[in-house]
Amino acid sequence: MAILVTGGAGYIGSHTVVELINENYDVVIVDDYSNAKPEVLNRIKELTGKEVPFHEVNITDKEALRPVFEQHDLEAVIHFAGFKAVGESVAQPLKYYSNNIHGTIVLMELMNEYDVKKMVFSSSATVYGMNNEAPFTEDMPLSTTNPYGTTKMYIEQIIQDQFVADNRWSAALLRYFNPIGAHVSGRIGEDPNDIPNNLMPFITQVAVGKRDKLSVFGNDYDTHDGTGVRDYIHVVDLAKGHIRALEKVLETEGVEAYNLGTGTGYSVLDVVKAFESANDVEIPYDIVDRRPGDIGTSYASSAKAKAELNWEAKLGLEDMCRDSWNWQKNNPNGYEA
Ligand code: WQD
Repeated sequence: MAILVTGGAGYIGSHTVVELINENYDVVIVDDYSNAKPEVLNRIKELTGKEVPFHEVNITDKEALRPVFEQHDLEAVIHFAGFKAVGESVAQPLKYYSNNIHGTIVLMELMNEYDVKKMVFSSSATVYGMNNEAPFTEDMPLSTTNPYGTTKMYIEQIIQDQFVADNRWSAALLRYFNPIGAHVSGRIGEDPNDIPNNLMPFITQVAVGKRDKLSVFGNDYDTHDGTGVRDYIHVVDLAKGHIRALEKVLETEGVEAYNLGTGTGYSVLDVVKAFESANDVEIPYDIVDRRPGDIGTSYASSAKAKAELNWEAKLGLEDMCRDSWNWQKNNPNGYEA
């Protein structure tokens, strides 16, 4: 029996594949390379010794995805595949609704057809919207402020509705806070297309000389230093959370949401200072206007994941800063040769 990982060549997907193999799972990867490079598969083989079966498929293409279910004896799906750029989703909502939601429906239809009814879904803390007070808990009302976040909220609902229709389904909806860092080897890491939207890859590109300086999006939030506070979680801790969630969905039925965060919030300037200190580098920055749609403070309560998945984050901000820089300085152009 194998675990299908959609988006398994991506940043979080590839780190999760490595942890799955470390735990002796058989893995199959589906990815369309829209936000990933083929080189990742070579790096996974280098780190694990395993040649992972791979299918270059976009999940909206049902007839291209069907052979994956025909050729492999699948017991569960870890579903990462989806577009994830908040700003792009505002400019191109139909692209996001089609790829993320329609793609998930196609995937779930095939899961039903081939009797694969166990799923771990890559959701996001963005579903907590702007009307909740941190620390966020899974029972809070959901709302979203951009189409990307709306696709995550809708897909959570679709999965819950499918369980109501068929109680043999089991799913864990994993709400990520802010994944950063890289595998300790520095051989896999975050490799964004174009200009990074997210804080840490921008910082590492400043450190490696690809960008002149960091723009800090606002210092007038109601936080200790005025800059945005987020719950940064090491991507390897996040990957291990997927293994715990997979174990649970393999053993039970039902659908549960879990926050995957550390429970600690750090501001933008906290992260800049931690990165400079951990790596003995300087990160020039200037303060600019707020980014539309940003909230001031976001951090998790991960008590439910600890209690029900026996999972908690182990790595701290210094580890995240050290591992992010180790990846970037050893791969200045990411996975490009
Ligand atoms: C973090 C903090 C910014 C860049 C988003 C999505 C979430 C997930 C992760 C997909 C904020 C500040 C950032 C920069 C800055 N997306 N910042 N200068 O916005 O918390 O979450 O990305 O997986 O679903 O909502 O992450 O890294 O973009 O921003 O000052 O150049 O850094 O204002 O306070 P965010 P982020």
